[in-house]
Amino acid sequence: MKRVITYGNFDLLHYGHINLLRRAKEAGDYLIVALSEDGFSEDFKNKKCYFGYEERKRLLEAIRYVDLVVPERSWEQKVQDIQLYQVDIFVMGDDWEGKFDFLREHCEVIYFSRTAEISTSQIKTDLKNR
Ligand code: CTP
Repeated sequence: MKRVITYGNFDLLHYGHINLLRRAKEAGDYLIVALSEDGFSEDFKNKKCYFGYEERKRLLEAIRYVDLVVPERSWEQKVQDIQLYQVDIFVMGDDWEGKFDFLREHCEVIYFSRTAEISTSQIKTDLKNR
């Protein structure tokens, strides 16, 4: 069984996220999402999520492509996660292209092209300007 992992905030879940999750699941058999904890997003990504961690987790767990949601608490946990969850493939959108190539010594690394013209930040901006 091929195990896939991906990381992110997945706030205000949108079809760009769904496309990414679908493609990630199709790359293997079992998809783990490491979901950024609220503190990690705020302190290290400078992003305040609209939905809290537990709400974002429940939304992801309701998606058929997602098998397991675990917390992302630091930038450094990836190698440990890959070993702990016996990950074969690491997946991210291509806004992260090249950033995680160092993981190739532990598993396959794939960057999928982002879905055009949609992002959580864009949704927030659009709603503000209505
Ligand atoms: N993603 C994607 N296509 C989009 C938006 C996101 O493929 N249109 C992917 C990202 O590349 C990442 C994952 O979804 O691998 C989670 O991204 P996240 O940062 O949570 O979502 P964004 O909508 O990009 O959020 P923000 O605008 O806050 O950066």
